[in-house]
Amino acid sequence: MSRFSSLQEELANLYYDRSKHSVYQTLPKFVEEALGFNFSIDQQWRGDEVRMAYLSDLIDWSDKRVVDIGANTGYFSLNLARHHGCRAICYESNARHCRLIERIADYFAMQDICVVERSVGIREVGSMVEADVALLLNVLHHVGHDFDQTRVNSPSEVENYCIEYLARLRTRVSTLVLQMGYNWGGNKTTPIIAVSDTRKFFDYQRRILSLAGWRIARGGMAFRDAAGISYRDLDLSALTGDSAAALRIGAESRLVQNLSVQEGMSEFYRRPLLLCRAEYASSRADSPAASSPKS
Ligand SMILES: C[S@@+](CC[C@H](N)C(=O)[O-])C[C@H]1O[C@@H](n2cnc3c(N)ncnc32)[C@H](O)[C@@H]1O
Repeated sequence: MSRFSSLQEELANLYYDRSKHSVYQTLPKFVEEALGFNFSIDQQWRGDEVRMAYLSDLIDWSDKRVVDIGANTGYFSLNLARHHGCRAICYESNARHCRLIERIADYFAMQDICVVERSVGIREVGSMVEADVALLLNVLHHVGHDFDQTRVNSPSEVENYCIEYLARLRTRVSTLVLQMGYNWGGNKTTPIIAVSDTRKFFDYQRRILSLAGWRIARGGMAFRDAAGISYRDLDLSALTGDSAAALRIGAESRLVQNLSVQEGMSEFYRRPLLLCRAEYASSRADSPAASSPKS
């Protein structure tokens, strides 16, 4: 019997927990290699490795304090702490995912990982620890389902919620990496913006970010060519009132929107990855008043 078998079994139990967001991320390579096993996800459908490749040189992570809101099974935090010298604080509402991250961090004696088992809703976001960077990847479109269930009752209510949430987040960090899904709660029968309309979705995010005091500094979209899928920079210098110009990638100058739809990439790969900077310094006092819960 392998000397890792009981640890592997424990990690597998925590990983395959049959909750809504289990089997979402893979394990970081260094974990897989050291323990001699892996958790596979279909990277054609949803990729963490290609996102990590893009995130790696998005900013200088060294010595940064990063809050990873909705850290899931810790793929990004563990990788960033291990390979990029930052300290990561994982906020995750799923207790088993929290235990999984802690177990891995303990095994590798990673002092730079801290796990906070907490759902970060509109009331909590302004009281998180202050940090340099927030990762807010694929969490916000789940509002009303996974968290703050009484505050958002329809896709049309997501926009105002996000503006308020992001404004409050700006009191904690000055850099944000944002990714959002098109469908409210991940349900394609309740789109926030139609999946076929990348441009409208990009404009939606530009608007909510701007109203919350954030500026998009860099952004990437998934692109597939013979080498496979990778995230490529959008041309933000071409961004005017109309985002179409910025949504062209590479020499091909084809609209990302058309690419993703024509080439059958999943909804996940149509979600832009956005690096945002706080537009102006902020204090907790200037965040918008909390919206009252709906009856
Ligand atoms: C769709 S997954 C995204 C995971 C990861 N951020 C990524 O993009 O690979 C959402 C994760 O966030 C967690 N979650 C959802 N809402 C949350 C909240 N308000 N605060 C903390 N964690 C949350 C879920 O348990 C799940 O692990």
